Amino acid sequence: MWQRSALVVSALMLAVLGWAQGPQLPAGPMQPKATTACTECHSAEIILQQRLSKAGWQKEVDKMVKWGALVEAKDREALIEYLSSNFPPQKPPYVAPKNRPAR
Ligand code: HEC
Repeated sequence: MWQRSALVVSALMLAVLGWAQGPQLPAGPMQPKATTACTECHSAEIILQQRLSKAGWQKEVDKMVKWGALVEAKDREALIEYLSSNFPPQKPPYVAPKNRPAR
């Protein structure tokens, strides 16, 4: 029985941790790398709000790399693909979650 409640408690703790960190980047093969490279200086939210064409994301990623984002050359194309497929211009505008304090 205690194992079960331990599981429930851990799940709750993870949920709270996720909440405290704010919204996360969408799932996908590049999600872990994008999280490491792109949420070092700002939250994921700044990316979730963005709507850009592929060319726009290319410029954006290159600008961030120039500013210091750690993106390996071999990951650049996949990262741009991940961002432009998740945040294209035709996607509806981002709606911020309302159940947490503004920051
Ligand atoms: C070295 C720090 C740093 C890293 C790493 C970084 N950024 Fe940024 N990013 C910034 C700064 C500074 C701004 C401007 C923030 C502001 O206006 O508040 C910014 C702004 C943005 C914006 C908003 C549009 C704009 O150009 O101002 C987007 C989208 C963005 N970053 C995406 C990314 C992505 C994608 C990555 C990973 C490849 C990334 N960032 C990694 C520093 C960084």
